[in-house]
Amino acid sequence: MGVEKFGPVRVGLLGIGTVGGGTFEVLWRNRQEITRRAGRRIEITQVADRDVDHARRIVADRARVLDDAAAVVADPAIDIVVELIGGTGVALKLVLAAIEAGKHVVTANKALLAMHGNEIFAAASRRGVMVAFEAAVAGGIPIIKALREGLSANRIESIAGIINGTTNFILSEMRDKGLAFDAVLAEAQRLGYAEADPTFDIEGVDAAHKATILAALAFGIPVQFDKCYVEGISTLQSTDIKFAEQLGYRIKLLAITRRRERGEGPHGIELRVHPTLIPARRLIANVEGAMNAVWVKGDAVGETMYYGKGAGAEPTASAVVADLIDVARVLTADPENRVPHLAFQAESISDLPILPMDDVETAYYLRMRVADEPGVLADLARILADGEISIDALLQREPGAGEDQTDIVLLTHVTFERRVNQAIARIEALPTVLSKVVRIRLEELA
Ligand code: HSE
Repeated sequence: MGVEKFGPVRVGLLGIGTVGGGTFEVLWRNRQEITRRAGRRIEITQVADRDVDHARRIVADRARVLDDAAAVVADPAIDIVVELIGGTGVALKLVLAAIEAGKHVVTANKALLAMHGNEIFAAASRRGVMVAFEAAVAGGIPIIKALREGLSANRIESIAGIINGTTNFILSEMRDKGLAFDAVLAEAQRLGYAEADPTFDIEGVDAAHKATILAALAFGIPVQFDKCYVEGISTLQSTDIKFAEQLGYRIKLLAITRRRERGEGPHGIELRVHPTLIPARRLIANVEGAMNAVWVKGDAVGETMYYGKGAGAEPTASAVVADLIDVARVLTADPENRVPHLAFQAESISDLPILPMDDVETAYYLRMRVADEPGVLADLARILADGEISIDALLQREPGAGEDQTDIVLLTHVTFERRVNQAIARIEALPTVLSKVVRIRLEELA
C-alpha cells in the first residue's frame, strides 16, 4: 500500500470480551481504510484473555493468543497496549506496567481513570507515552476529542450528559409504559442491557466515573471521583415521572458539571449525578432508550450536543480504534507537542475546588403527601419564603372521593441546596405533612 510511510504498529489486546471482540473485528474489517488514515498498518499481533478458547474462536490465526496479560505488556515487540479488562485491580497494574515499559496505552476503563487517572497520566508524561481513552465516556460518541480539541478555544461553562444507557433505558420504559422501577430492571436484564449485578449502573456510579473524567477535561482540574455527588434511580417512583410530565418535564439520570466563578456563594466546580427534571422540549430530554447524549455549553460556541450509542461491541470499538489511529499517527511526534491527556497542560491544572452539594445551585421538584386541611399550603409557603426559596409552579391533585389527604408538588426557582435541605427538614416536621418529601433536582439547561 503506497500510503505506508512506516512499518506496522503492533498492538497487544488485553481482554477480548464484548468490546475487545468488536475492536478486533472493526480493525480487521476496515484495515485498508484505517491504513489510509493512519499512514501505516495497525495490527493486533497478540491477544491475552483468561478464556483462551473463546479468544481463539474470535482471533483464529490472525494473532497470537495467550492467557498471560503481563507477558504481552512486557513483550518488546508490542508498541501499544489496549486494556479492555475493566475494573481497578489487575487493570491498574497492567496499565502502569505498560507505561513503565514505554508502551502507549488505549483503554475504555472509566473506573480506572476516574479513580487513578492522576497517577496514570503523571506516569505516562514521565515516560513520554500516551494514554488514550475515548471509549471510556459515552462509548462511540467522540466527546473526549470534542472537549480536548474541537472545543479548545472555549471556556467551557457547563456539561450535562445522559452517559449511562442502562438507566436511560429503564427511565424511558418507566415513562412509556407506566411501569415500576423493579419491573423494568428485570426486563433490562432479560434483554442484556443491564449487568447481572447492575449496581454501578442504577446507583449512578458508572455515570459518576464518566462525569469525573468530563469535568477534568472541561475545566483543567485533576480527576476527583471521591468528590462527585452520586444518586441513582433505584428509589425513583413512577408517580414522580407522571407528575413531572404533567408539569412539562422528563426525568433523566443526568451527569452535570458546571463552573461557578460568579455570584453569591463559594466559587468552584459542581460535579454531580442524580435524577433530574429537564423541560420536555429540550433535545436532551428526548434521548430515549439506551442512547447517550452529552450537552456542552462553551462561551464562544454556545450550546452543542453529541448523541450516539454509549455501549455495545462496535460503537465502543469505534472509539478504541480511533484512539489506536491517533496514537499511531503521533507515535513519532515529540511528547511535549502532543495533545495533553486532560486537555490542559499538566503544569496548568487548576485547583478550583469541587463544591460540596450544600453550595450547589439548582431548582427543585418537591412532592409531599399532606392532610387536606386549611393552612397546609400557607405553612409550606411560609417555610419556603423564610428560606428565600421562590416557588415556580404548584400542583395539587383533588383528593379522591372519601380521601382526606393528597399530594402537593412544588417546583422552585434556582436556589442553594443548603436552603432546600433546611426547608425540607421543617416541612417534614409539620404534623399535616404525612410523608417524607420527595426531592428531585431540576435543570432548565438554557
Ligand atoms: N454500563 C454502561 C451503560 C455501558 O449502561 O451505559 C458502558 O459504559
